[in-house]
Amino acid sequence: MKLPETGRSWADIDADLSAAKARDFSWRDGRVALYYYYLDDELAEVQKRAYTAFWTENNLGKKAFPSLAKLETDVIDCALGIMNAPKDAAGTFTSGGSESIFLAVQTARDWAKAVKGIDKPNFVVPRTAHPAFSRAGHALGVEVRRVPTTRNDFKADVAAISGKVDDNTVGLVGSAPCYPYGVFDPIRQLGLLAIAKGLWLHVDACVGGFLSPWAKRLGQPIPDWDFSVPGVTSISADLHKHGMAPKGASVFLLRAADLKEKHQTFDFRDWERGQYLAYTMQGTRPGGAVAAAWAVLNYLGDEGYLRCARLILETKQALVAGIGRIPGLSVLEPSELGIFVTRASDPKLDIGAVCDAMTAKGWFMGRQAEPAGIHMHINPGHAPIVERYLADLAEAVATVRGKGRGSDAGLTY
Ligand SMILES: Cc1ncc(COP(=O)(O)O)c(C=O)c1O
Repeated sequence: MKLPETGRSWADIDADLSAAKARDFSWRDGRVALYYYYLDDELAEVQKRAYTAFWTENNLGKKAFPSLAKLETDVIDCALGIMNAPKDAAGTFTSGGSESIFLAVQTARDWAKAVKGIDKPNFVVPRTAHPAFSRAGHALGVEVRRVPTTRNDFKADVAAISGKVDDNTVGLVGSAPCYPYGVFDPIRQLGLLAIAKGLWLHVDACVGGFLSPWAKRLGQPIPDWDFSVPGVTSISADLHKHGMAPKGASVFLLRAADLKEKHQTFDFRDWERGQYLAYTMQGTRPGGAVAAAWAVLNYLGDEGYLRCARLILETKQALVAGIGRIPGLSVLEPSELGIFVTRASDPKLDIGAVCDAMTAKGWFMGRQAEPAGIHMHINPGHAPIVERYLADLAEAVATVRGKGRGSDAGLTY
């Protein structure tokens, strides 16, 4: 596109935008395995109205917009409460999981430099930890050592992690749960290791932070992972995932407020405009994102999050049971929340070709690279799809079996 000579009408622009969407997969029909979170149109309306009420305010300008400072404080207080933080804890509203993780690596690095004089820092993480840790390490000069998980349950291998810790290790990571398998790392054991060796422990609850507390109340056997576990220093949790807020919303939480003040805050004065104070990687921050997250927390309340958790667990259970009835497929065990991986139990069945056949039927599939499989991340918007998905999957398997081997599953995430 070139900049038009003169501006165009909204009617024209609207038509073009709608046309641009025409080839997208339909999340509204639950046909997208990841990337979106949808409960109902009432919640969507709350998201949109709250976002647009603050659509142009800048959350960098806390003095100009004390409203946003208050909304952010409320959201952080709420998250700290959900995650059992001590009185002295602190937090920051960020643009997403990757930024929260970036802040964790940066704050831990600067803490270790100031307190222990570590100049060549490293983090030791399970291999299942999100790529954002390696990306942050790459940008921040922190080596990220990825350690294979246990073979039987895909959880952090604490003994192997301990073996990779040396004098330059700043911190450890555990996921609650990890994205590839949806299982929780043993945070309690990682906490003990962190305490014994004087390390930072970051818990990545980007997926589980705003879902697992309610899933646990519904009887799901979920291990403790939040600030109630000794040794946990910081947590990332995404409001724009199971917090059900629109995109651009996550929290980075710290057990102690002085860590934020001393090691997270960027307080800069060496230019003509005087002090520039920032807690995030962003400068300008959209006011709409924090207003919408605040509105969603209030709109759903405890009861609403319980409803979401119930829908997710019931949908997952129905899908897993149905997949188990399709000859040639099995669901990888364990999976502990709303993520699961479907594999070919029949070695002659090409699961990549099954994905291709499902794509041809209009499903956007999550493809797992190791082991080759179908990755599914359930949100409430998937509740109505169970029968259709299972029928299409059974048909896709039958078609692929009829054709013999095709391509292997590839990573498209
Ligand atoms: C466990 C986990 N951590 C971090 C992230 C990164 O979050 P974002 O995509 O919001 O940056 C994800 C995204 O899927 C995730 O699953």
